[in-house]
Amino acid sequence: MSLKSDREKVQGQLTAHYNEMRNIHMRDLFMHDQNRGKKYTIHFPGLHIDYSKNIISDETLPLLFKFAQASDIDASIKAMFAGEKINITEDRAVLHTALRTTSNQNIKINNVNIVEKVHAELEKIEAFVCNVHNKTHRGWTNKPIDTFVNIGIGGSDLGPKMVVDALDKFRQCETRSFFISNIDYQAIDSLLKTINPETTLFIISSKSFNTIETLTNATTLKTWMQNKGCNDISKHFVAVSNNLDATVEFGIKPENVFELWDWVGGRFSLWSTIGLPIALATGFENFKKLLAGAHEVDEHFSQTPLEDNIPVVLALIDYWYSNYFEAETHAFIPYDESLKLFPDYLSQLLMESNGKSVNLDGHIIDYKTMPICWGSVGTNSQHSFFQLLHQGTHMVPVDFLVPLTKQGNKEHHALLLANCLAQSQALMQGENNTDANRYISGNKPSTTIIYSELTPETLGSLIAIYEHRTFVLGLLWQINSFDQWGVELGKKLAMAIYENMNGEKTTKDLDSSTQNLIELYKKSRLQ
Ligand code: F6P
Repeated sequence: MSLKSDREKVQGQLTAHYNEMRNIHMRDLFMHDQNRGKKYTIHFPGLHIDYSKNIISDETLPLLFKFAQASDIDASIKAMFAGEKINITEDRAVLHTALRTTSNQNIKINNVNIVEKVHAELEKIEAFVCNVHNKTHRGWTNKPIDTFVNIGIGGSDLGPKMVVDALDKFRQCETRSFFISNIDYQAIDSLLKTINPETTLFIISSKSFNTIETLTNATTLKTWMQNKGCNDISKHFVAVSNNLDATVEFGIKPENVFELWDWVGGRFSLWSTIGLPIALATGFENFKKLLAGAHEVDEHFSQTPLEDNIPVVLALIDYWYSNYFEAETHAFIPYDESLKLFPDYLSQLLMESNGKSVNLDGHIIDYKTMPICWGSVGTNSQHSFFQLLHQGTHMVPVDFLVPLTKQGNKEHHALLLANCLAQSQALMQGENNTDANRYISGNKPSTTIIYSELTPETLGSLIAIYEHRTFVLGLLWQINSFDQWGVELGKKLAMAIYENMNGEKTTKDLDSSTQNLIELYKKSRLQ
């Protein structure tokens, strides 16, 4: 039988199974199986993943695994690790896993061993970080660097920013860090009030070196430095990019350009030279530990049978909700102040990757793909939007993330953990009450990821699990998770509108709404 008809057959079985499961309450599943909590927990070094509070029975997962097999997941995983060009619309390999390989593997692209290149670039980062930390790298007035500013957006911002924030307690030195992404000048304005031009290093992070927000911000900051008297920009600006010519044109010395490659997608790039801010803030050794944690997950993902494979299990449960229960959103709630930026990071990872409506054969599809991802830190969110999770009309699967131990006040931590566990329990069991206003139905699904402690290794593992879960979801939906053509139109139109706004161009067939809004702007400039 062909894979297509295999998939259709299993989908039929899943529909029949869904019709049974939608009338079953998780409370009863727990009551009938005292071992459910343990049975549906997967352990990984530093991580415990409890997916027992999901609307699944002993029949659900075998059916979902059958679906994974019918979707040829195994072969696609192998293809990715082997460097096949699975990003078919851009004709590129997808090899963020090669960025964190520890062995001297030989992965060839165009006959060049990319692992050697990766390791060479890592050595360059190590040397640079060392020079900044030991004060060898100095500014134009010979003062040591005490501040760095990452200028980037999307994958060139969200990943490194999230990790630097998450690993704040691992900071190796007194260097302050800032991230500038928005083209809104307000961000630069407040930055300039706190930095010293003589001691600040700017990292222009842009794979394409063609992104309007990043280049505009970088140019503004370069001009600011020159106006402050900086007579050697090369001491203050370094770049991370795949577009070496453009970095040179900007005035960056080739030795201060850290290379990244077209086989690293922006939202999968924090392991590459895009991670330079991580190494600068937390030290190169911690950056390596982050890579090692991710590498362990790569080994697990590429070698573990589907049934015990963490990213596969989690993706299958996601698929179950989005395509059978028609869940339209998914919430990510870290009970960890260190992970407060994680929901934002995941939004790009999951939605830019899987917000697609065309399959790998180029056909428009008639089923749902990525739900909307959102979230915020617990316990704050309990006092804002959790009401909707408990009593609203939408089904919102939740990922809870919480550390088992945390440095600092033990009492606070115990209460934090208790609150996290209470929320997943309340969502699952609900509460009976004759007063309809106080009745809580329960049966709301969640997965709890408990990590022993947030270390560079556990964070690396956690991120890699989400990366691979993203990929597997794309395979289940038969879409390409590695392109993002949808964002191009807005970029193109923004430039055309900009030209209309400043009178460089007059587009005749502009829609009346956009036309009126442009006129409003033009009038405001005259006042
Ligand atoms: O516009 C989307 C995007 O291409 C993201 O995929 C990417 O992470 C971001 O822009 C930044 O791109 P670059 O690193 O090339 O500046």
